[in-house]
Amino acid sequence: MSQAQNITWHQSAVTKEDRRKQNAHQSFVIWLTGLSGSGKSTLANELAKELYQRQVRNYVLDGDNIRHGLNKDLGFSDEDRKENIRRIGEVSKLFVDSGTVVLTAFISPFIEDRESARQILGEGEFHEIYVKCPLEECEVRDPKGLYKKARKGEIREFTGIDSPYEEPASPEFVVDTQAYSIEECTAQVIAYLESKNLI
Ligand code: ADX
Repeated sequence: MSQAQNITWHQSAVTKEDRRKQNAHQSFVIWLTGLSGSGKSTLANELAKELYQRQVRNYVLDGDNIRHGLNKDLGFSDEDRKENIRRIGEVSKLFVDSGTVVLTAFISPFIEDRESARQILGEGEFHEIYVKCPLEECEVRDPKGLYKKARKGEIREFTGIDSPYEEPASPEFVVDTQAYSIEECTAQVIAYLESKNLI
């Protein structure tokens, strides 16, 4: 529910379509979801490089980074994660309106929250990509040593340990980062985007 009253929506003088035309490409969200350590941030950054080389304006929104600024007031309770994802959905919508391709890298563990983000975006603007990797493999990788801490009880509400991760039921695309290298996964996502005429 909106708290503010007496506010009116101003139409933009320059529209999303104008901006897309000027950029000569579509704008949309590539929403990466998966466990911590599954490779979301790495994949988002590899995709960003690839899109940049193809003259596709893009921007990465990454959980660890956004939690240093915009979302630094949020922790990891279910409620805070919900608010984290709500804000990222809204920010993504603004980026799409600006004609930019957004690459989001958030665990985004709850189906309901990802669906809410999908709902606020337009038809064909939200592409959920499941960055699939078994918990056991993420735990072996443990790039930030957080799984070890979570197992020792030093971190609470850690996704996959004592906080749930709800797998996407019907994502637009799945990449398996255990079976394939990051380069291969990047190429697979690019091929997906090409097959949909998005780039
Ligand atoms: S989300 O669940 O709200 O989508 P988000 O992607 O923003 O999470 O942040 C996850 C990152 O925060 C992880 O990659 C990890 O580095 C760090 N982190 C710190 N504490 C936790 C925790 N309790 N659960 C998950 N990730 C955590």
